[in-house]
Amino acid sequence: MKVLVTGGLGFIGSHTVVELQLKGFDVVVIDNLSNASTDVLDGIAEITGKRPEFEKIDLRDKASVSEFFKKYPDVEGVIHFAASKAVGESVENPLLYYENNLNTLIYMLQELSAKDNANFIFSSSCTVYGQADKLPITEDAPVKPAESPYGNTKQIGEEIIKDTCKVKKGLNAISLRYFNPIGAHESAAIGELPLGVPQNLVPFITQTAAGLRNELAVFGNDYPTPDGTCVRDYIHVVDLAKAHVVALERLLNEKNESNYEVFNLGTGTGSSVLEVIESFERVSEEKLNYRIAPRREGDVTAAYADTHKANDVLGWKAGSSLDEAMLSAWKWEKKIRNL
Ligand code: UFG
Repeated sequence: MKVLVTGGLGFIGSHTVVELQLKGFDVVVIDNLSNASTDVLDGIAEITGKRPEFEKIDLRDKASVSEFFKKYPDVEGVIHFAASKAVGESVENPLLYYENNLNTLIYMLQELSAKDNANFIFSSSCTVYGQADKLPITEDAPVKPAESPYGNTKQIGEEIIKDTCKVKKGLNAISLRYFNPIGAHESAAIGELPLGVPQNLVPFITQTAAGLRNELAVFGNDYPTPDGTCVRDYIHVVDLAKAHVVALERLLNEKNESNYEVFNLGTGTGSSVLEVIESFERVSEEKLNYRIAPRREGDVTAAYADTHKANDVLGWKAGSSLDEAMLSAWKWEKKIRNL
């Protein structure tokens, strides 16, 4: 069965391609290589023994999207990762984000709407909840005004899919709201490759330990949390990847309760920034150089998932611990830095 993975050479995309191939799916990847390289195809092949088909396409080019579906009429499911994801950059260049993240989604849905039956998985984010009033966060928690154009593209993206599903009954879609994906494949054949200075906590930690950065700035220790630092739900990327396969199978096996569904993907456990650092130091046996710095604008105090719906309805549960995820991230960093 053929599955299209857009952004399939990126961090979460590449791990999902691996899990799909291990389950016997025939994968075709679209990527514009703006934030990834074709070396990732080798990493995927190293793990699975198979190179997925690859098409270098920029999904902002509507004609190319149409051409793709003419060439591959047998695609039965689409997992759509392709998007820009840097919060700060989205504030600097909102139109780039609206074009990259929304035009591409619209072109994709236009193609899928023309089919009698199509199955679509969308990369959404816990950022749609903002600072939730209640923790853990259920899927029913209200969507809060977005803090950034990036966050807004996820909210609008979900609305676009929901509205389309209302009128296109052959289109079945699931939005997956990720909490904080971290880690790498245990083989260290694929992992996260941030461009430039990492914005996210875990790649910043591993790059600091690897000597690429002098020190980690911990953004604020005066939050109303047990140790004063922000709390997040860090989920191993391989667990997250597996959830995509489960979600797609739900659609392919017609197990979905309606043609548009939403699931949180997290572990259900909140960890503070200091706890993440402790975990890193424990598994790596390295001392991390860090200092407390002022708060970062736009950060919420705490966010972690209520996982009941994903566990009970989707039938998926995150299996890895924070320590396992941190160890895999460190193994990957050491490999790419030849340490
Ligand atoms: N942090 C630091 N120092 C750093 C980087 C991060 O202390 O150098 C802290 C942050 O303040 C935050 C925590 O580590 O408390 C996690 O930060 P990340 O940047 O790794 O992740 P976020 O929770 O900010 O990101 C999440 C989602 C994004 C989304 C964003 C919106 O993963 O997809 O929320 O705010 F865009």
